[in-house]
Amino acid sequence: MRAVVYYRYGPPDVLRIEEVERPVPLDDDVLVRVRAVAVTRADCATREANQRSGPAISLISRAISGFRRPRQPILGSEFAGEVAEVGSAVTEFRVGDRVFGSTGFRFGACAEYLRVKESARIAQMPAGMRFEDAAAIPDGALNSLWCLRGADLKKRQSILIYGASGAIGTAGVQLARYFEADVTAVCNTKNVELMRSLGADRVIDYTKEDFTQNGEKYDVIFDAVGKHSFRRSRGSLKPGGAFLPTDGLENLIRAVSPSRSGAKRVVFRLPPRYTKQDVLFIKQLIEAGRYRAVVDRTYPLDEVIEASRYVETEQKTGNVILTLN
Ligand SMILES: NC(=O)c1ccc[n+]([C@@H]2O[C@H](COP(=O)([O-])OP(=O)(O)OC[C@H]3O[C@@H](n4cnc5c(N)ncnc54)[C@H](OP(=O)(O)O)[C@@H]3O)[C@@H](O)[C@H]2O)c1
Repeated sequence: MRAVVYYRYGPPDVLRIEEVERPVPLDDDVLVRVRAVAVTRADCATREANQRSGPAISLISRAISGFRRPRQPILGSEFAGEVAEVGSAVTEFRVGDRVFGSTGFRFGACAEYLRVKESARIAQMPAGMRFEDAAAIPDGALNSLWCLRGADLKKRQSILIYGASGAIGTAGVQLARYFEADVTAVCNTKNVELMRSLGADRVIDYTKEDFTQNGEKYDVIFDAVGKHSFRRSRGSLKPGGAFLPTDGLENLIRAVSPSRSGAKRVVFRLPPRYTKQDVLFIKQLIEAGRYRAVVDRTYPLDEVIEASRYVETEQKTGNVILTLN
């Protein structure tokens, strides 16, 4: 089968399309014929061993994915496709089912076939959904859900989402809206209308207004794009408020440091633990019309290097998808 592989850490050019062995499903496995796969910030960060994030994070990244070279040569986590084969003990899926899901840091989805445990993060696709849209769901939705649950976001609490136009941000706006919070989205001028369409109560265009200077206070500030900081946001948090980052060693240290009760705090739980139930929960929201995919660009598999370069601009709106025929 064809797969996107990499054998050393580095820029997008280390990616190659090669023929590799097709996985064989075990008794409790589902073999998915992949039709669409997302190119995520996690793919790009892992591929370059998180060098952009500094030596400490890069070391942790290599400890996870292989010190000298990647242990898993196939990237890609968020997939959609059709069930091609099932193991003898599989009961939930049948050949031909349209499925979507996430392999998380196991990766391996950027290939024509992917082997997934039936009990893993895989579910039937919502009816009528395109593969490109289904593959665009898990990255933002699972990451955002994990972050928002960490803050225990409640009805009528106020949340500001910074970097609301990315994969995690567009998911965060929709999920915070679903949790009936009062949502302020911060984005660039070109995405203001998108934020409103996703359900933001208020939108701040960061090219015109600095939210830290407008006197508003929030229960939760979610930095969905890793471009803000607890230090700069602190004055905009209510007493006891939570800052939710998506990366950064400093945030990790703050999150595990003791703080007095009722103090403004950083909530950053690692490693994230996404479950099959989370995928099923998002599926229900989609079917109820409460959640939708945001896809920026779609590329054929052969253009994986161009797609990765675009993701690395850190300016995608929502998700970037590769399609496999
Ligand atoms: N290290 C890892 O393995 C890993 C894995 C997954 C996610 N993450 C983290 O998760 C975060 C988000 O990932 P993602 O995929 O959702 O991001 P993303 O989709 O790449 O975010 C891009 C969006 O952020 C907006 N943006 C860029 N610069 C901004 C700024 N200075 N202020 C406000 N908005 C800005 C961009 O719009 P404009 O440029 O038009 O404003 C664009 O719409 C990142 O912090 C990433 O590091 C890390």
